[in-house]
Amino acid sequence: MIIALNNKCNLTKQDFLKYQEELGKISTNNKLILCPTFLNIGHYNLENVELGAQNVSSKEPGATTGEVAAIQLKEEQVKYCIVGHSERRNYQHETNEEINQKIIKLLDQNIIPILCVGETKEEREKHLEKGIIEKELEIALQQVNQEQKEKIIIAYEPIWSIGTGIIPTNEEIKEMIKNIKEILPNNKVLYGGSANEENIVLLREIKEIDGYLLGGLSLKPEKLKIFIEKLEK
Ligand code: PGA
Repeated sequence: MIIALNNKCNLTKQDFLKYQEELGKISTNNKLILCPTFLNIGHYNLENVELGAQNVSSKEPGATTGEVAAIQLKEEQVKYCIVGHSERRNYQHETNEEINQKIIKLLDQNIIPILCVGETKEEREKHLEKGIIEKELEIALQQVNQEQKEKIIIAYEPIWSIGTGIIPTNEEIKEMIKNIKEILPNNKVLYGGSANEENIVLLREIKEIDGYLLGGLSLKPEKLKIFIEKLEK
């Protein structure tokens, strides 16, 4: 299983250094991927956890103030990068076309994209979720060849579950993961959205899930440890 930790915009340098001491004590056979803020990437010092980023520029390096390019992430030993997180789609108005450019830039540097897809509450109420995700995948993966495509990790994150404490039913999650795997049969698919050390007992029954993208829980190493122990039972 893959367990990706999305710190979002949390942890000052000092807090991050203490946090890593705690994360360093976790032993697991699962693959842990830590996605800190850009600045904390420079302070990463773990051996049991791989390094990821939360975003990358969709443009070539150069006159793009405030951006970080894939080649710069590569130099920092970044192996994975989240793209298309709903918070960026929402606050930064990122489009599927921009996300596609980010994916191409990352793959050029051999960095594995973790592509987030998911529907809003309103879209689900109107039964549009399947079509929304198909469109997100279709545009984000344009001009990516089959071999490269298969490297991409997909994270199904219903937007109404992120940070809300509400998770879909197992049936709902299973159906969406199956839909994604019908389009991308060889890709790993993660679930993200309020997964925690309690609901993992339910979530782990969904055999189609290849791992988790954790936001809030990523910041609590003690609870994360319990999550992993229950996942491994
Ligand atoms: P959450 O966030 O676990 O806090 O719901 C998940 C995410 O945003 O990736």
